Amino acid sequence: MRLYQLGNLGNLDALKLVEAPDPKPGPGQVVVRIRACSLNHRDLNIVSGGYTSHALKPSAIPLSDGAGEVIAVGPGVTRWKQGDRVAPIFVQRWLGGGLQLEYMPSALGGPSDGVLAERIVLSEEGLVRIPAHLSFEQAATLPCAAVTAWNAAMVRGALAPGQTLLTLGTGGVSLFAAQFGLATGARVIATTGTAEKIARLKKLGIADVIDSRAEPAWDARVRELTAGRGADVVVDVGGPGSIARSIAALRYCGHVSVVGNLAGKATIDPAALFAKRASMCGIQVGSRDVFEAMNRAIEVGRLEPVIDRVFDFSETRAAYEHLASGKHFGKVVIRVP
Ligand SMILES: NC(=O)c1ccc[n+]([C@@H]2O[C@H](COP(=O)([O-])OP(=O)(O)OC[C@H]3O[C@@H](n4cnc5c(N)ncnc54)[C@H](OP(=O)(O)O)[C@@H]3O)[C@@H](O)[C@H]2O)c1
Repeated sequence: MRLYQLGNLGNLDALKLVEAPDPKPGPGQVVVRIRACSLNHRDLNIVSGGYTSHALKPSAIPLSDGAGEVIAVGPGVTRWKQGDRVAPIFVQRWLGGGLQLEYMPSALGGPSDGVLAERIVLSEEGLVRIPAHLSFEQAATLPCAAVTAWNAAMVRGALAPGQTLLTLGTGGVSLFAAQFGLATGARVIATTGTAEKIARLKKLGIADVIDSRAEPAWDARVRELTAGRGADVVVDVGGPGSIARSIAALRYCGHVSVVGNLAGKATIDPAALFAKRASMCGIQVGSRDVFEAMNRAIEVGRLEPVIDRVFDFSETRAAYEHLASGKHFGKVVIRVP
């Protein structure tokens, strides 16, 4: 079988396509034939060598997100049988409850081997069943971006019908959060920076889109759109550089889920948080329980992920380049033969 490995990190030359023997399942393990993978912003950081939270093992297989079918089960496996349609969970050891630091080395695509391979072997515990109405390409978008959005908006943010959710930009996490908000009956306010992306957000059903280039003080516009009340929940992918505005956009006692760090470094003023009696938390994707709860909601709502573009396995480098260009709207997917 073929798989990608990461060589010397620094740029996309690190991506190496190699041949490897087919994996065999040990006790409690299953082999999954991967049918599609998707990219996350983190995968750009990993290949460039800028992802420092955990050291990558040499020649690691990249990417955390994929979907496929079970083709072999090892001795003692009870959760799966051949033909089951599955996706891996991001932190393989995090099945439920609170995240423990010691689980983090089991995160796929860094530091553990990821999914950009024709076949992978995983513990039977590290998989979920994918929603029945989704294709493999659609399901491959779920493990990181969608679970993160669900955890940030619905679990930690406790978004409720009638509340207002603010999302920033049109990347994978933000669009999933916006879709979950709409499906819940919340009002969604989104920011983005081009006329084309504004039109696409409106087509998704988001009536209130703020042009972040024309209105860099988008927090003021959020307060204006909510008659001074502010957003109940913000899913903040900008991190250090946008948190001050996210807090300013919040209602009294609102919540900010901090997911990313796209907007560079800045300091935050704890007094601003205190003045609002607001809460803020950092998000790490989500557990298997969270993934399964989200999948039930996706199935009931027949929600479909927003896929920007699908690349072939042999075009993996082009897929990374496309994500890095920032031109995408939603998820960038790789089809695995
Ligand atoms: N904590 C976790 O568990 C977790 C999980 C997933 C992702 N993340 C992090 O969350 C962030 C988003 O990830 P992703 O995979 O959704 O990214 P992505 O698909 O690459 O999307 C990035 C999008 O964000 C917008 N953006 C770019 N710079 C921005 C800025 N300075 N402020 C606000 N928005 C900006 C752009 O959309 P527009 O062109 O529309 O503005 C861009 O297309 C990354 O930092 C990633 O590492 C964290």
